[in-house]
Amino acid sequence: MTRSEPLLVAFCCYWCAYAAADLAGGMRLSYPPNVRVVEVPCSGRVEPELILRALNEGADGVMVAGCLEGDCHYQRGNLRARRRVERLRRLLEELGVEPERVEMFNLSAAMGPRFAQIVAEMTERLRGLPPRKFQAVEEAGA
Ligand code: FES
Repeated sequence: MTRSEPLLVAFCCYWCAYAAADLAGGMRLSYPPNVRVVEVPCSGRVEPELILRALNEGADGVMVAGCLEGDCHYQRGNLRARRRVERLRRLLEELGVEPERVEMFNLSAAMGPRFAQIVAEMTERLRGLPPRKFQAVEEAGA
């Protein structure tokens, strides 16, 4: 990866999305190497501050990936994560930051090919965006 490629951070729940990422690797699927997968116990544990920190520390985009709706091992964590991501996207837009830099996805452990596809789609999306400007976001106390 060259640094001219956008950096994508993927917070993936251990039970499903991380397993899907692992499966994509096991299947030797090809997808952009600019993704940094961070395993979390549940997507519901990904606080907005964590997403903002990733953006402030150099990520061009962040994806939060949890289990399919109805399959969260902590019952409603993925629903909470989706609401948080939606709120954060609205806040980013108000602050003049492209909300499409942040997205929530739902995956099962068997969806390795879909994980690879999402990474490719997010990478393509980020390539089309202007350079980041996040310092003010964290300072806004989001
Ligand atoms: Fe996967 Fe909650 S355990 S999203």
